[in-house]
Amino acid sequence: MKILVTGGLGYIGSHTVVELQSAGFDVVIIDNLSNSKIEVLDKITQITGIKPGYFNFDLSNKTACEEFFSNNNNIDGIIHFAAYKAVGESVNKPLMYYRNNLESLMNIMDNMNIHNIANLVFSSSCTVYGQPDVLPVTEQAPRKQAESPYGNTKKMAEDIIQDTVYSSDLKAIALRYFNPVGAHPTALIGELPLGVPNNLMPFITQTAAGIREQLSVFGEDYDTADGTAIRDYIHVVDLAKAHIIAVKRLVEKNNKLDYEIFNIGTGNGYSVLEVVKSFERVTNTKLNYKIVGRREGDIEKVWANTDFANNELGWKAEKDIDEMTASAWKFQLALK
Ligand code: WQD
Repeated sequence: MKILVTGGLGYIGSHTVVELQSAGFDVVIIDNLSNSKIEVLDKITQITGIKPGYFNFDLSNKTACEEFFSNNNNIDGIIHFAAYKAVGESVNKPLMYYRNNLESLMNIMDNMNIHNIANLVFSSSCTVYGQPDVLPVTEQAPRKQAESPYGNTKKMAEDIIQDTVYSSDLKAIALRYFNPVGAHPTALIGELPLGVPNNLMPFITQTAAGIREQLSVFGEDYDTADGTAIRDYIHVVDLAKAHIIAVKRLVEKNNKLDYEIFNIGTGNGYSVLEVVKSFERVTNTKLNYKIVGRREGDIEKVWANTDFANNELGWKAEKDIDEMTASAWKFQLALK
């Protein structure tokens, strides 16, 4: 079975390629290196001993897409990660985000219909829930007004997929990620720092590594036990494994509906300070941080109801917060 992984040299994509190869799938990657590095291809090969196929072009380029699919039509399924994902940047450059994230998806789906590729796993996000009214949040919770153009592209992509599934032979699974963190146990792949990190975990590890002066904790006046915001952090390897199960479900035609949605989280929420304490515990260091004001657009608290993924997919997150922080730190130390 051959699986196309778009964005396969990125953070979640690379971990998913490793798990796919370990599960016996042939893998071909499309990645334009806009948020990844070519060195990741060799790291994947080092981990699995198998070099994935690799093509470097922009999926929002219709002609390039058509050429690829015309020359590579023995694809059994697609896992689509390739998208811009910086929340703050999307607020300043909305058109760039709508064009890239949605045109890429539509070019892929056009070619799926032309070349009879039926199976699509889509990288969605808990961001579509906004601040849920009820926690833990289930897949039936209403999607809310996105906090950013980035979040809106995820909502719109889900709608594009649902409508296309309805009108074609396409089958799709959307995985709504919570907060992916951590790195592969080999520390050969992980969350590569490209510029100043927006996300919490890389900022923590870079502060501990002396690259950043101090971590700013955004807000201590939330309605939570310690006042800092809560998220459902999930180890990137657990997240990657969910994609293998999802793509197998489609390829083996075990899906119950033509379009299915699953929350991929741990079901546990941790506050910012609890993540910091976990990091300090596993690294036996004191982290330099200060409490500052809330960050614009942040929600207060979210964690997943994972019953559907656990029972229907037969998937459950296994790694705890200390394994997440320890693997993130091991990767940071391994970086040159
Ligand atoms: C986590 C918590 C911050 C940095 C975003 C996207 C989501 C997904 C994951 C792509 C929050 C706090 C952070 C810092 C801090 N991205 N924080 N100091 O915002 O929950 O989710 O990334 O799919 O779609 O929305 O993740 O890691 O930025 O923040 O205090 O320097 O850490 O306020 O409470 P977020 P995050």
